[in-house]
Amino acid sequence: MNERRIQPGAVSKWILRCAQNDRTMGINPVDVSRQHFPSHFPNPMIRINEHYTKLKASYLFVDIAKRVAACQQADPGKSIIRLGIGDVTEPLPPACIAALHAATDEMARRETFRGYGPEQGYAFLREAIAWHDYSARGCFIEPDEIFISDGAKCDCGNIQEIFAIDLRVAIPDPVYPVYLDTNVMAGRTGHPRDGRYEGIVYLDSTPANGYVPAPPATPVDLIYLCFPNNPTGAVATRAQLAAWVDYAKRHRALILFDSAYETFIRDPQISHSIYEIEGARDVAIEIRSFSKTAGFTGTRCAYLVIPKTLTANDSAGNAHPLHGLWNRRHSTKFNGVSYPVQRAAAAVYTDDGRKQTRALADFYLGNAKLIRDAMAKLGFSCSGGDNAPYIWINIGRDSWQFFDLLLNKAGVVVTPGAGFGRCGEGHVRISAFNSRENVTTALDRIAAALK
Ligand code: MLT
Repeated sequence: MNERRIQPGAVSKWILRCAQNDRTMGINPVDVSRQHFPSHFPNPMIRINEHYTKLKASYLFVDIAKRVAACQQADPGKSIIRLGIGDVTEPLPPACIAALHAATDEMARRETFRGYGPEQGYAFLREAIAWHDYSARGCFIEPDEIFISDGAKCDCGNIQEIFAIDLRVAIPDPVYPVYLDTNVMAGRTGHPRDGRYEGIVYLDSTPANGYVPAPPATPVDLIYLCFPNNPTGAVATRAQLAAWVDYAKRHRALILFDSAYETFIRDPQISHSIYEIEGARDVAIEIRSFSKTAGFTGTRCAYLVIPKTLTANDSAGNAHPLHGLWNRRHSTKFNGVSYPVQRAAAAVYTDDGRKQTRALADFYLGNAKLIRDAMAKLGFSCSGGDNAPYIWINIGRDSWQFFDLLLNKAGVVVTPGAGFGRCGEGHVRISAFNSRENVTTALDRIAAALK
């Protein structure tokens, strides 16, 4: 049927005729006519969240994966070593595997089977965390201040939901993209200009400040911090963290402290938790993960800590405990991490689990040292890699071009710094998460490609 020949009114008459003739045949006349006369049917009224249109077309690691796939497709026999996304390669620690098996056996018997667990996590895991990760380090965190989840990425992304839209948000640059993108999705920013979003206070992390930004001169409400840092591998001293806690107190701001990489800290002077800093219970939420601590990237378990003393105001100035708000959000939208996975996570805190996870982190730190030494030998200045699994390399040139060069000439995937923000330009991140053999081969290939 030629749509341009249809006269005004003809479509509705045609629909009526179809309705009379076709209803008995089970055909929806509106669907049929929409197909034949699309311009006579307005778009559905459902509308999108337009804040999503401000985002880059795809997530950084998806962009990288597409380039790697195209390179592999062009040369299917090419060996490609991935030191880009921080994904672990070594098997789960034996203590976790034993706990997973035992918990699976429990699920196989009626007497020990479990259905829904507590949304916030089982007491056995929350108590182990409170004791080993906090009390043992002199921090006061109660088990019921800990919320077990299926990943730090989700926690980092979801936590902003409990805050007002018109908050002033401070985000480091370079940054793990989830902090920024989820605030863009929520509508806390304007459009991007020159690679930066209007409305965000960027905390520049540069060679000049050792990639550890100081509190801004302007007041902000919500501050994202990550130490050991992704992507720069930098760690903050106690004095630097104390300056942030002090700033948050003075400006009645809140710190979201992402401590997903604390297991790699070897310097005894560096804090593993923001709660090691006096007063942090009143101004900070902490996020941690078993992904890098125990190789759980494919197993999924993390946690978020909200001290019950932490409050924020409503528009009338009344204080509300954030613990209660998050509990409401978490129990409405989440049904808990599976029982076997929580048992596997709890096994991290047994004597064997602690030795095995320490050895696992030491193994990746061994890779990190090789990477840092090799890149320094090639003449690059590097940060990270000593208390972190990431090495941040100042290459002094376009980071996507350098990425392409290493991918095509060396068959090695790194992460271009520009993908983490404007201050990331001129840098690449190399991840220490891979086998020793792959790391040494990759370093030989990089050296040959840069000759
Ligand atoms: C990274 O490579 O930055 C991380 O693996 C990503 C993540 O933890 O989600």
